[in-house]
Order: sequence, then C-alpha cells, then structure tokens
Amino acid sequence: MGQKVNIEDLLATMTLSEKLGQMRQIAGTGEGNEAIIRRGGVGSFLNVVGVEAVNRYQRLAVEETRLGIPLIFGRDVIHGFRTVMPIPLGQAASFDPNVAREGARVAAREARAAGVHWTFAPMVDIARDPRWGRIAESCGEDPVLSAEMGAAMVQGFQGESMADPERVAACAKHYVGYGAAEGGRDYNTAYIPENLLREVYLAPFRACVEAGVATLMSAFNEINGIPASGNEFAVRHVLKTEWDFEGFVVSDWGSVTEMIVHGYCADNREAALAAIAAGVDMEMATNAYGECGEELVESEALSPIWIDDAVRRILEIKHALGLFENPYTEEGRTSILLDKSHLEAAEQAARESCVLLENDGMLPLKNEGVLAVIGPLADNPHDQLGCWIMDHDAADTVTPLTALRARFAGEIRYAPGLDSPRAADENCFADAVKAAEGADAIVLFLGEDAVLSGEAHCRAFLSLPGAQQELLERIAATGKPVAVVIMAGRPLLLGNVREKASAILYAWHPGTMGGPALADLLLGKTSPSGKLPVCFPHTEGQIPVYYAHKNTGRPAAENARGIPPGTPLDPEGFSSTYLDCDPTPLYPFGYGLSYATFVYNELKLNETRLLPNGSLGISVKVTNTGAYAGTEVVQLYVRDLVGSVTRPVRELKQFRRADLRPGESREVMFTLAAAELAFYNPRMTRVVEPGHFRLWIGGDSQASLGADFEVVSS
Ligand code: GLC
Repeated sequence: MGQKVNIEDLLATMTLSEKLGQMRQIAGTGEGNEAIIRRGGVGSFLNVVGVEAVNRYQRLAVEETRLGIPLIFGRDVIHGFRTVMPIPLGQAASFDPNVAREGARVAAREARAAGVHWTFAPMVDIARDPRWGRIAESCGEDPVLSAEMGAAMVQGFQGESMADPERVAACAKHYVGYGAAEGGRDYNTAYIPENLLREVYLAPFRACVEAGVATLMSAFNEINGIPASGNEFAVRHVLKTEWDFEGFVVSDWGSVTEMIVHGYCADNREAALAAIAAGVDMEMATNAYGECGEELVESEALSPIWIDDAVRRILEIKHALGLFENPYTEEGRTSILLDKSHLEAAEQAARESCVLLENDGMLPLKNEGVLAVIGPLADNPHDQLGCWIMDHDAADTVTPLTALRARFAGEIRYAPGLDSPRAADENCFADAVKAAEGADAIVLFLGEDAVLSGEAHCRAFLSLPGAQQELLERIAATGKPVAVVIMAGRPLLLGNVREKASAILYAWHPGTMGGPALADLLLGKTSPSGKLPVCFPHTEGQIPVYYAHKNTGRPAAENARGIPPGTPLDPEGFSSTYLDCDPTPLYPFGYGLSYATFVYNELKLNETRLLPNGSLGISVKVTNTGAYAGTEVVQLYVRDLVGSVTRPVRELKQFRRADLRPGESREVMFTLAAAELAFYNPRMTRVVEPGHFRLWIGGDSQASLGADFEVVSS
C-alpha cells in the first residue's frame, strides 16, 4: 500500500491547483468534501473524528486522486485525549517537565489510535493577565518555565519519530504575542516592543523549535499593528530565516481572512497574498488560498517560490509522519484509551500540579472521625476536567468525593451547598451547614466551572463566582476548621478566602484523576509540591502583576496607603504603588507550601567573576526541617543590576526538584552560563554586558538568600 516518495519529484509533478489544495485545511465532515478531496483540493482536515471517518477520507485521497497524496488530520489534543490531564497551567505548576512530557506521550498514544495525526498543542503563549481565559491553556507568565514545559510536551507528542503509530505531530501556538492582549480580552490588540517580544514572548516558541516541533500556528492577534497571520517579520524572518524552522505554519481558525476585519487587508485576495508571503503555509477553515492563489501567481503578485516552499514543508511533515507509507489508521487500537498506565500518569500529574497556598496545620487531615465534604466541585465530573476537552467522557472522572469515600477511614458527610459554582441561591446552605456542624473537619471544594476559562472566556471580575464566598463564610461560621480546595482555570482573588480558611489547596482543573490525587494530598499520603506558574493578584485593579517587572525610578516604598485627608504634599513619599492596595502579588510566582519545611543555607559560588563565555558553579544546601517528606522546587533567579536596557528585578534562570525526607539535607547545584544573562540591547543585538549581578535561590520568586557576582569583559 505505502509508497516511497521523493518530495522534490512529487512537487515537480504537482499542478498549481494541487499545490494550493495541500495548503487548505477543512474543518469537519461536510457536504462536498468528498469531491474536494477527489480533485486534490484539500491537504488536511481538522475535527474529523473516528478511525472509520478518517480512513474513509484518507482512502479517497490516496486511491482516488491523481497523485495519491495522503491527508493529515488535526485535532486539539491540548491536555489529553480520552484520559484528561490537568490543564496546562496546572501541569506548569508542577515545575516538572516529566509531567508535561508524559502527559503529552499518553495523549499522543490515545489520539493516534483514534486517527489523529497532528495536535494543535503545546500552547506556549506567555500569559501575565489572569482575566484572559486562555491562561488556562498556557504554562504561565515566565519564559523559562514555559520553554521547558513546552519543549517537554513537544518531545512527548512527537517522540523520536512521528512515524511511530503512538506519536503525533505537535504544533506550538499561537505564534506570537497572543497572551499580551490588552485588557486580558481574547483576540485583543497587542503592542510588544521587539526586545520584549524576543526575550519573553518568542522564547518558548524558540525552545519548541529547538525541540523539533513539526508545526506552529499563527495567532489571531495583531502585533504592533500587523496581524500575526500576515506578519512577515515574525514568521518569514524570525521563525523561518533566523531560526531556520523547517516545519510548516498553519493559520488559526479563520485568522487569514480575519485580517480583513483587522483592517489590514481589503479582501480575500490581499489576505491570501499577505499570509502566504508572510510564511503561513496552510489556511485553517477558510479558503482564500484556494480561491485567490492561482490568480495571485498568474498575475505575478505572488511568487510561486512561496507556494512551493509551503507545499514542500507540508509534504515533509506528512512524510515524517509516515503517511505516505502508512496512510491508514489501524482499526481496533482505541482499546488503549484509559489504559491503567494512562490513568496513573494523569493521577501523578494532578498530584504534582496542586499548590498548597495556606495551611495552619490543618492539613494533612487525620484519617479518622467525621469529615464533611462540601461544595459544588466536590463531585463534579465534567467541570473537574477543565477547558479544551473534546474526546473525553465525564463518566471516566474520579471526583474528590468518590476518592475520599474510598480512602477515608472515618465517616464522610457530603453536601454540595450549591447546585453549581455559579449558582446564587442559598437554599442548600442549610444542609451544608448541618454536615459541617456534625464534622471534625471540613473540606470545601470551590472554584470555576470549566467553561469560565478557555477561548473567548475572559473575566473582568476574578472572585469566586456565584454565592461560593457566602457558602464559605457560613461554613466557617460553624467554627470548625475548613480546608478549601479550589478548581479553576486561572488565578482567582483569594484574599477573602484565606481569611476564612485554615488551608487552601489550588488544584486548577485537575483532570480525570484529580480526585485520587487530591485525596492522597489531603490525607497526607504525599505532600503538595506544586509552585505557582503565575502571580495571584489581590484585586483586578492590580493587573498586570508579574514577578519579572522593572524596578522603575521610584520602586514601591513601604506603605503609602491609608493616606489621611489633608495630608500635605510630600514628594519624598512618592513611589510606584497604590493608595488602596499592596503593589506586590497576594501570592508570587514560584510560591507553594509543602507539609515539609525547607530551609536554605550555605549558598556558595565557585567564583564571583564571570567571563562572557564562562559559567558559574552555584550550590546551596536545602534541609527538610519538617516531620513530613516533601519535594521542593529549588529556583534560581538573577538580576542584572545595570544594563543598556533596564533589566527586570528578577528573572528565573533554572529550577530543580529535590525530594527530601524529614531531617534530610541536600546540596543542590546549578551551573549558570553567562550566555543565560544575555538580552537585546538598543540595537537589537543579543549581548551579555559586563557589570554587577545578583542571584537568589529559594522556593519562590521572593527568595532572600542571595549572592553577588560580576561579569567581566576579560
Ligand atoms: C481555535 C483556537 C486554536 C485551535 C483552533 C482549532 O480558534 O484558537 O487554539 O487549535 O481554533 O480548533
């Protein structure tokens, strides 16, 4: 069946119409698709579900077209296919690339068995605005963390060879700057100066390219006035020339013709020209390329070189997937869905993703007595899975209530308290209060329903939805200790929650096996180890709040708040802060507690003067002074004190996980290359500038254990 193929020979035999066909991706099954396939008018489909449907279309392409070029089938397999992993923001909180890699491997294995060749993941948009609904799909605010997690997902999806029937082609998205949308409103305008674009927003994409990602997806947003899907600088120049990317770029859904709505193109012809010339090789869901491509080439408005370049890239990826040799998906392999090993991977990912934000000693729970399990997310199989799931079955979900009933040795009393996270009627509060009054301890499961985050689902207010805060207050009023577990697709405002709770465990949307993972954490079988991949604000008015900010000329001085009326002007007291809010985050990037307690000391550098091509050996002793075993994510931050462009007050450079038994000490080592200190100077040259630097090592971005060093020119 299969055929050996020479891409150049094949390309040479293709008509312009057939080439434009390869550059077209159609969404779903629909009237007329079969005729389009037969005439070689399409190269890819997305959202064609099921082996039978996929093979039916594939057979038409391979056996009933002039050249028999196979189709590539794409789908959004963002955090799992049938076995649902924690949302990517939760996976990022693990600070464990193995979680990302294994989650992607499992997703690829299930998806390929179901006929999917290509996933539109990882999403590596840097997200510094919790109002943005797609922060849920991201790896958070930091380029180093996002780069490591994104590259690991690419490795998990693609493996050593995409021809492996248990791997898929990956797609780093959304290229680029999508998360910088003004106001945290999806699809909104993004203004990003080139040095920030390169140092922050492009960094995770470069890591994915270096990890061998097969494709990228161009974004909806404009970047400084030029839409990403027609942005020649970002795509043709940076991605395909500077980085020498050899895969292909697919547009986002309709993002080519949306350049008309942006006011960048007058019509489909201009949109097709702008996108193809910019380097967007395949058009998703619309067909400006097919409608206008031939005229653009025949009128010499568009060089056929770009068409050949695009088609060559597409054919190369189809070849790398083995589709010429093995175009069909073997029936019957979907028996591996929900494999035991997949569920174990999902449980491990959920366990490592949860972040302990508060704990007055209430956790871990004693496995005895009466435990009240309350809240609209204690037994909510659908919302526990989070956004961007398509091939799941909520019946697979193991909820916290189910898991606690199986593990808790005492008595469980359950009351939802509210019909759903957004419910406002308090009719069921009485049952919840009754359950709480009869209990020794209470675990309250609150948060967002899944659809409150994800694409186009942005929120201007970030408090707990509905009457959940009221429920918390009524339960807390019983005087019993309350541990709050939050399931959400973004940071929520927790100031009012922490006033009432003895403990707060942030679970994001933890996926199919979130229940067993949470039960094990709550009962102390294992200790929470997650760390925040994004800052949590006190209030919406503080956004954007992120740790790698600039110092300004007047950094926030201590307390300018509470200024009484009539206070005389005092220029001495003017600083970059708020009169009515702490300017620092409620919880900072990298923060997370454990049942263990970790002490850092004996920070040592092997030298304090570093040559531009040298590296620094750094070591620190970390001791678990607590009574529980735990895993600490040891983080290394650096500040360049003076630069030809001002530098952030801190930047994460590396992180390590350290498992420590009670009383155990470990020397954790880092090797910091001077090259990791590079940034873009005013001439947009990437440089390491001599000067003074400071580094800190600790368990979050506010770590205080530090040392100074210097980069010297010789
Ligand atoms: C959507 C999303 C993108 C997704 C694509 C296909 O609009 O922006 O992330 O991969 O369309 O579903």
